[in-house]
Amino acid sequence: MLTVRVSAILQVAVDINVYELVPANGGGLPVAAAGSHIEVELPVGKRQYSLLLDGSSATQRSYRIAVKNECKGRGGSRYLHQSLRVGNTLSVSVPRNHFPLIESAPDTVLIAGGIGITAIISMMNRLRLMRASWRLHYAARSQKHMAFLQELEGQPNVHLHFSNEAGGRLDVAAIVRAMPTDAHIYCCGPLPMLEAFEAATVGLPGDVKHVEYFHAKEAPALEGGFTVVLARSNMELLVPKGKTILEVVEEAGIEVDYSCTEGTCGSCQTTVIEGTPDHRDTFLPANRKKSNSVMMICCSGSKTHRLVLDI
Ligand code: FES
Repeated sequence: MLTVRVSAILQVAVDINVYELVPANGGGLPVAAAGSHIEVELPVGKRQYSLLLDGSSATQRSYRIAVKNECKGRGGSRYLHQSLRVGNTLSVSVPRNHFPLIESAPDTVLIAGGIGITAIISMMNRLRLMRASWRLHYAARSQKHMAFLQELEGQPNVHLHFSNEAGGRLDVAAIVRAMPTDAHIYCCGPLPMLEAFEAATVGLPGDVKHVEYFHAKEAPALEGGFTVVLARSNMELLVPKGKTILEVVEEAGIEVDYSCTEGTCGSCQTTVIEGTPDHRDTFLPANRKKSNSVMMICCSGSKTHRLVLDI
């Protein structure tokens, strides 16, 4: 973990603040690539936030994150908006990247909705610096809800969509239909946008479509009634109704890595030795879910009476 100090807080849209974080003891920070996020330790638990990056791969003097105050969220964004002040220190992880930009693609289409712009604008900055071919479609409820509006409006390959003026959501299917045949396409935004993206790209090869969820898509598997065998720990545990595998494993005193607890971050990925998981996460791509060789134990359950895990 790294200790950083909040050096600036800037409101960039209704309910959206940008926090600038610098090393608490001076020096630099590990360099991050477009699509990366950091995990921030807060009094309410760990949270992941995408990094706002300028596209250069030179030294990293600060990290910037944009955070939307989610009043119905789990309390992380509320804490940042209401309690965090300039000068406070935080523990953050080194950057991780589960949503990397394929820089060798001949063309790139970027789609962002709301706070999903954070990862996408970092990709745009990188592509712009590389003088690559790209276009961005970015939707928000209104002008005052759109972060980085001044920076983006007027750019020829940026298409802004305000749903209150347009009378509806961005037509993701039309964007996918019109995309160049050799392009890679990326989407980050609210659940309805991601679902529209998944439906519209169902016929595209898996390696050209890239999506990042920041909330769970499905409810966690809490049906219980199966046994997990922890092969390395030599333990057999019953998962009862109402509990996740992660909760049962923790209660047994076994330490495992986890963070989001809703299947989006990938921290709790576990190798499956035997049995068939009931996948409920948004992290694993369809082909990896189909292989049943790994699973996210924070939210996924079991389709078989017995699941042998490499724990
Ligand atoms: S803890 Fe994030 S995917 Fe399980």
